[in-house]
Parts: sequence; C-alpha cells; structure tokens
Amino acid sequence: MRVRRGAAMAAAVLTALVPATTAASADPAGGIGDPYFPSYGNTGYDVGHYDLRLDYAPDTDLLKGTATLVTRTTEELDSFTLDFLLDVDSVRVNGRPADFSSEGHKLTVAPSRPVAEDRQMTVVVKYEDRPSEASWQDVPSAWHRTSDGAIALGEPEASWWWFPANDHPRDKATFDVRVQVPEGYEAISNGELTGRQTRGGKDIYLWRQDQPAATYLATLAVGRYEVHEDTTASGLPVYNAYAPDLGRLAGPARASIERGGEILEFQERTFGPYPYNALGGVVAGPEADLGYALETQTRPVYSHVFFSRGSNTYVVAHELAHQWWGDHVSVDTWQDIWLNEGFASYAEWMWSEHEGEGTAQELAEYTYDAYPADSGFWTVTPGDPGSENVFHPAVYDRGALAVHALRAEVGQRTFYRILYAWQQEHAHGNATVQDFIDLSEKISGKDLDPVFDTWLFTPERPESAPGTLRTAAAAESAPAKPESWDTIQRNRELFHDGQHGGHGDH
Ligand code: ARG
Ligand code: ZN
Repeated sequence: MRVRRGAAMAAAVLTALVPATTAASADPAGGIGDPYFPSYGNTGYDVGHYDLRLDYAPDTDLLKGTATLVTRTTEELDSFTLDFLLDVDSVRVNGRPADFSSEGHKLTVAPSRPVAEDRQMTVVVKYEDRPSEASWQDVPSAWHRTSDGAIALGEPEASWWWFPANDHPRDKATFDVRVQVPEGYEAISNGELTGRQTRGGKDIYLWRQDQPAATYLATLAVGRYEVHEDTTASGLPVYNAYAPDLGRLAGPARASIERGGEILEFQERTFGPYPYNALGGVVAGPEADLGYALETQTRPVYSHVFFSRGSNTYVVAHELAHQWWGDHVSVDTWQDIWLNEGFASYAEWMWSEHEGEGTAQELAEYTYDAYPADSGFWTVTPGDPGSENVFHPAVYDRGALAVHALRAEVGQRTFYRILYAWQQEHAHGNATVQDFIDLSEKISGKDLDPVFDTWLFTPERPESAPGTLRTAAAAESAPAKPESWDTIQRNRELFHDGQHGGHGDH
C-alpha cells in the first residue's frame, strides 16, 4: 500500500527511535522498514543469491523466467513476501510446492510447512508474463520497451518487472543471470559475461555478478546493441553496449563511455580500489525514452540524451563514482540518498578539476551563487529530502556543496582519509548519513555537527559558499562560469526529470 507523506514521516520517527531490526519486523506496511517507501522490501529472510534463468521475446514482450533465491530465514516463517508484479505459475520452497497469491507489488508465499528461524530457504519461482503490461499505482514502470527489446531499469524500485526479490538495498545479494533471446540479439546484465552460445536459433548469455548488489542495481538490456569488448590497463574486462539507433550521437557517446577505464583509475586514487571485477556501460537509444542514467552495478545505463550536445565524461564520472557511493556502500534506507548523489555529484567536480575545466572550489562558488536565497532549492535538505525529493537537484548540488564544506573544514588530507576509511569500513554493506558524520568526526577529531547541520539539515541558504577563498573585493563580483558548468548542470536536470519525473508521492 502506498503511504502518504504524513505516514512516511511517522515511520521515520519510529525508525529513529528503535533499532533497525526491530522496526523492520514490526513495520505495519509490510515492508523492510524504509521511512520513505514503507511497503518496499520484505522481512523474515535474507537473500544471499539470485539465480535468474530468463527467456525473452522482443516481438511479443513475453518474458519467461525461473528465479531461484537462496535465502536464510531470520525468523520462523509460515508465510513471507517478495516484491513482484508479473504472473506467477508456480512456487517451491525447499523443494516443495507452495501456495502463493499476488496483491499490489507483493507476492505472498505460504510454504507447505513452516520454515524455522536461521535456516537455509530456497525459493523457486516460475513465471511468464508481458512486463510492459504490469503496473502498480502511479509508480513509473522500470520496463522500458523498444522495438528491438527492452531495458529493465529503475530506482528506487526495479525488480518488480523482471524478477521476484526482496527489493530494498538493505538486502544485497550476488547474481547469476542466464538470458535466452532470438539469434542476433544481445542480452546484457551486470558483472562478467562468463558464457555465450548459440543453440536452436537462440543466443544464450551468462552473466555473473559475484559481489553483493542491491536489487535496484541489477539490470537487463535486450536489443540489437553494438558491443565493444576490451580490457582496462589493470586487466578488468570491459563490456560496453551502444543502441543501434544512436545516429549522430554514437560518436559522442563512445568518446565518453570509452574513457571509463581512465576515469576509474582517477577515482581509485581517492575512493580506494575499485570494488568490482568488470566494467562497462549501456547507452540506450531514443526509443527507450529513458531520459536519465543509473549506476547499475559494474555497468551503468545512460540515456542517449546525455550525449546530445557532444561528449559528456561528467555523467560517466558520476555513474562510476556511484560504484563506490551507492553500490559498494549502499544506503541503509532511501532517506540516506545524499550518500549516493552528493558524492557522485562531487565526483563530477573532482573530474572537472582533473580535466582542467574548473576546480571544485570554483564549481562550489558558482553553484552557491546559481540559487538565490529565496529559491525553493534551499528548502530541500539533502540529509532528509523527503520521499518526493529523492532526486531533487538539492540532493545533488547542495549535496555536493556539503561534501565540499567537509573538505574545507577538515582539510584535504583528512578529507581523503575519511572517504577511503568509509569504503573500507562499510565494504559491500549499508550505512546511514549518521554513520558518515560519526566516522568523519572520529577521523578528524572535530565536532562536525555545525557543518553537517548547516549543509544537510537546515532548510535555508547557508551564509556563504563553503571554503570560499575569494577576497572580499572579488566576492563583490559574480564568480566566472567554470567551463564544465553547463554540462554538469544539464546532467542535474536530466537526473531529476528523467523518465520518472518527480517520482510521485509514495
Ligand atoms: N541515481 C541516478 C543517477 O544519479 C538517478 C536516477 C534518477 N531517477 C529518476 N527517476 N529521475 O545517476
Ligand atoms: Zn547519481
């Protein structure tokens, strides 16, 4: 059930007062306990691995699947739920046929006998449906159909249209995805391509993501993509796919995506070792009508629109930074979105500085000046933006200003130590904004509440741009526009608007 803002706020207060685990199992909305999206995810079990065996027909949009979930129960279960919208044919739990029913975005499963706490529970779901026909309330579909296939992509909800899941970032798992498509079509997912064969008029692709991933970071793209395979200087397999309908955007798209290895090298110097064993990108064509990009694990998906004005390495820097900020260390709940978007946006500034197209300091000052004090922009607090503002420009731009404010406050060296330690401490896990504040204070030995309160939690424009080095005289004149500004600012608009628009009120 979708919950209005008031109820979401009450849940937020609740989770703040009780430990997460208690809140989760007690959540009346039937979800994992997310304050913004209370019905999302499930309790009672933890998924360790998803094995998806799929057959997709681009002509008819018919998706047939067998999903095997290897889970462990966290309490005794006589029934449990999964997030899923498609028609289910059968469910087995630990080998035995189970009863099931569907309502809203939940598939409820009743095992033939209760499963005890802390046991392995293997769930096999067989299904067959047309994902483009599935919907729930006004949540935008994560199934983006094209004439030659489809792309499964969405945030915060994604799996409902293609595999049954515990669809919340708190439950991360590894993935094996086997996809069968008509001969001549590509099927692209996350991680490494471990096998490919043609049999009986079908192309079969085996994808393996053997590091934990949040469910919204799993993707599937089927179509007649042009694929470029390569290896990075450090030996990572690269798999980039370009939609066939990019036309004159194919050049700019390739000129951006193919620099991924180089951008990654740069980011490894500040964030720590790249957490995954494969790299790539998928550029969707105009037909997919995506309008945004998403940091799907190891292989972000980009709308063609990012390349309509020429190359755009900033969006690549943004999505690749998410591999650390969002993917490797994931939000604990969607209220923690600043940990994703603030840092991925800041990574664009760092890339700009590296490229000599404007320093982070210049971008911070220009950003601050770009939003007048009476702009609604300053009323959205990145530390708790509200469910309707998860992708608001404030989460990105003011979020990046908050990161810059931290850097200015603790100094360059300590700043980098914090970023690095964060990745070590929460490797392949989840964390909250408060965890980040705590770690920053521990490493810097400073009380940072004033900085974070000002930049993350106060609904008004702070007194001055962070880390301003300009003299009083210089401050009288407006700062010069950094060369990277237009590209970065347009990225903001696209992330925000995307196909999902404001993302409704749930
Ligand atoms: N996390 C994505 C990114 O910043 C943005 C997703 C935007 N989604 C939307 N519905 N507008 O790359
Ligand atoms: Zn982002």
